[in-house]
Amino acid sequence: MKKIFLAAAVLMSFGVTSVSAQMPSMSKHSARGVQCTVCHQGKEFKPVPTSQCVTCHNQDALASKTDRLNFISKMKNPKTGEVKEHKALINPHHSYHFGKTEDCSDCHREHRASVNDCGTCHDVKAWGMKDPK
Ligand code: HEC
Ligand code: HEC
Ligand code: HEC
Ligand code: HEC
Repeated sequence: MKKIFLAAAVLMSFGVTSVSAQMPSMSKHSARGVQCTVCHQGKEFKPVPTSQCVTCHNQDALASKTDRLNFISKMKNPKTGEVKEHKALINPHHSYHFGKTEDCSDCHREHRASVNDCGTCHDVKAWGMKDPK
């Protein structure tokens, strides 16, 4: 109830009388003291782009924090017995496919549960990766 009231107060402070977007029932950042208007700087509540996320979250620092997830993958050739090793780059913030270019919102969602984009195609549970917040 309190949050709904807050959202309404924010709307009124923008002087918006009718809004097509549905007001979210929760905001993960607001719960941690980052106000709505820090992210939504225009008059409308547009989705917030990655370029804005990285003004607060340093991408290089983020990538090195989750670098520990990369692992050495071994494959044995059944004919020759030869074992080939390579580093599997599963770091979500510096990955095999996208490097550091993937949009945060592919995984992290502000007003609803986050998803792991890699899980669309890979078994991320086997990777021992935590769910994104
Ligand atoms: C950390 C930045 C951030 C903060 C703080 C934030 N939002 Fe958002 N907001 C987003 C993102 C990103 C989206 C896109 C959808 C999603 O990720 O859930 C969004 C989407 C929305 C939308 C839907 C827009 C659309 O067209 O889909 C509304 C409405 C909205 N936010 C209102 C608010 C209100 C009200 C607050 C404060 C209680 C707030 N937001 C706080 C980042 C933020
Ligand atoms: C105004 C600065 C600011 C902006 C812009 C911002 N964040 Fe944050 N973010 C924070 C702060 C502060 C925290 C809380 C950090 C803590 O508690 O350690 C946080 C926490 C998070 C967390 C949770 C980390 C954890 O360990 O629980 C994620 C994920 C995150 N932000 C992603 C995003 C994404 C994605 C965007 C863009 C839509 C974004 N942030 C925009 C400041 C910001
Ligand atoms: C492919 C999915 C994916 C993308 C894209 C992604 N993240 Fe993450 N993020 C994760 C996962 C998964 C974790 C938790 C990893 C773990 O610790 O096991 C995480 C963790 C985090 C954390 C907490 C780090 C910590 O341990 O302190 C923050 C903050 C964060 N992400 C912000 C971002 C921002 C900002 C972007 C965009 C520049 C982004 N993420 C892009 C999946 C993603
Ligand atoms: C749309 C499906 C799809 C998504 C989403 C996807 N992948 Fe992949 N991935 C593939 C396919 C197909 C291959 C095998 C072909 C190739 O190597 O490009 C692959 C290969 C890989 C490899 C190489 C295998 C190895 O052993 O080194 C890694 C690492 C990887 N993906 C990590 C990721 C990570 C991390 C994410 C999330 C950021 C992700 N993938 C998202 C389909 C996907």
